[in-house]
Parts: sequence; structure tokens; C-alpha cells
Amino acid sequence: MRVLAISGKGGTGKTTLAVLLTRWLHDERSKSILAVDADPAANLGEMLGLTPGETVGAIREEMRTHAAGLPGGMTKQQFLEYKIRTGLLESPDFDFIAMGRPEGPGCYCYANNLLRDIMDTLGKNYTYVVIDNEAGMEHISRRTTRDVDHLFMVSNPTVTAVRTAGKISRLADELAVGIKEKHLIMNRVCGPLPEQVKTAIADAGLAEFCSIPEDDMLSSLDRTGEPIWPAASESMAYGVLARVLDELMPGRKA
Ligand SMILES: Nc1ncnc2c1ncn2[C@@H]1O[C@H](COP(=O)(O)OP(=O)(O)OP(=O)(O)O)[C@@H](O)[C@H]1O
Ligand SMILES: [Mg+2]
Repeated sequence: MRVLAISGKGGTGKTTLAVLLTRWLHDERSKSILAVDADPAANLGEMLGLTPGETVGAIREEMRTHAAGLPGGMTKQQFLEYKIRTGLLESPDFDFIAMGRPEGPGCYCYANNLLRDIMDTLGKNYTYVVIDNEAGMEHISRRTTRDVDHLFMVSNPTVTAVRTAGKISRLADELAVGIKEKHLIMNRVCGPLPEQVKTAIADAGLAEFCSIPEDDMLSSLDRTGEPIWPAASESMAYGVLARVLDELMPGRKA
């Protein structure tokens, strides 16, 4: 299992790049992929062209309502495993699960533990696990992002987004969450980066891993609410990403 996680400031293109990354893995490496929507606002499924099913957050709620006794005398763990399999969407191309947001106060620890459990148990069945995170750095501070092979920090060409990537990177180092490699992806780039942005990248102790151009095809699909998945590999952004991924994760199609 190789875990690839996406993080960064809000609206920089995390979910879009998660779809392109999943598409590349599918086309060029292996169809054994679990795509995880770890953003409570959950739109990875839609961008992948799926109609998302039950979220893990909803499953957690259901467990609470069954607190007096689980159906068929199941243990909590058995019920959870059963429900997670229900929430798992299986397609010929990849599998998908959405974490959702648990209702009510004080649920986060539980939801976080569930995400970890899912990674530890379900993830083992796949060659690749792709995790689209919510904006910001909470997924690092809550340690739901941990034991990751590649963390892609997405930024647009603005100083604020680069600084957010820098904070994510530093926090990941401080908390030693087990990230093997971190990569800064500059997204929606038109022309040379402004000097201030270049300085912000250097100040954050980062280096640009790749520069994805502004791609009208992607933004127009989003405007009309169409999934990116079907035509993803025809996009200019995909072409650029594919070249760097090929070097980063050499291998042959399985
Ligand atoms: N390379 C690109 N070219 C053009 N538009 C892009 C590109 N990447 C992302 N976008 C557009 O930017 C917007 C935000 O993208 P996306 O939803 O992927 O960001 P996000 O970081 O996941 O946002 P959030 O923080 O809300 O989860 C969308 O309209 C998307 O189509
Ligand atoms: Mg998103």
C-alpha cells in the first residue's frame, strides 16, 4: 500500500488534483486504488463521477442510535466493518469512501479514529490510497494524515497559499506524523511566478515540485458541475502532472 495525500489552502485545487492523480494511477499504474474523501464538505466523489453513498460520519451516527444493542448481537467492531463495507463504493476503476462529518458535538475523536482504522484495515487491500483532505492543517494536527508516502501540498501562485503550504509542512515535521516525502504543487499558474511568491516558497523552506497551468477545461467542467474523471487525461493539467508523477513513482502498468 502506498498512501498519497493532498493538502493545502482552501480552493487551491486539491480535489481537482486528487482526481487527476487517481486517473493517472488508474491509467498508468494499477486499478487497485482506494480514493478517500476526508473533507467533510465531500465533493471528491462528484468530481470522480460517483453518486456517493453513506459516509463514515453517518455510520458513526447510526452506531450511536444503536447504542443499546447492535443488530444481530454484532460487536461494535463487526458492525463497523460491515457498515464501512456498505459505505464503500466499488467500481471497476477504483473504490471510494467518504468520511463525511459526524453530527453533534464531541465526535471528532471518534471520526478521526475511524479514519485511521479505515486506513489501517481497508487500505491494506489496495496498491494505492489517495486521500483528499479538507483545507488547512487540522488533518495534520489531528493526526489523521500520518504514515503517508507522498504528501502533495497544493498552492496557487499567491503568497498566502504558499505560506499555508509552508505551515502544513512545518507542522508535519514538528508532529512527526510519518510523511516520507512532501511536494509543493503550484496550481493554476499563468506565466512566471511573481517574485514575492518565489520568495515565499524559499522562506517556507520549500521547492517547487511542479507547476500546473491554468486549464480552462477543468474550470469549465466545475462551472457546469460535470465530473472531471471521464475526460481527465485529455486535460493539459493532466499532461503536466503525468510527467512529474512518472519520475516520482516509476513503474509499469499492472
Ligand atoms: N489547473 C486548474 N486550472 C483551472 N481551474 C482549476 C485548476 N485547478 C483547480 N481549478 C478550479 O479551481 C476551483 C477549486 O478547485 P478544487 O475544488 O479542486 O479546490 P479545493 O482546494 O479542493 O477546494 P476546497 O478547499 O474547497 O476543498 C474549481 O473551480 C476548479 O475547477
Ligand atoms: Mg476540495
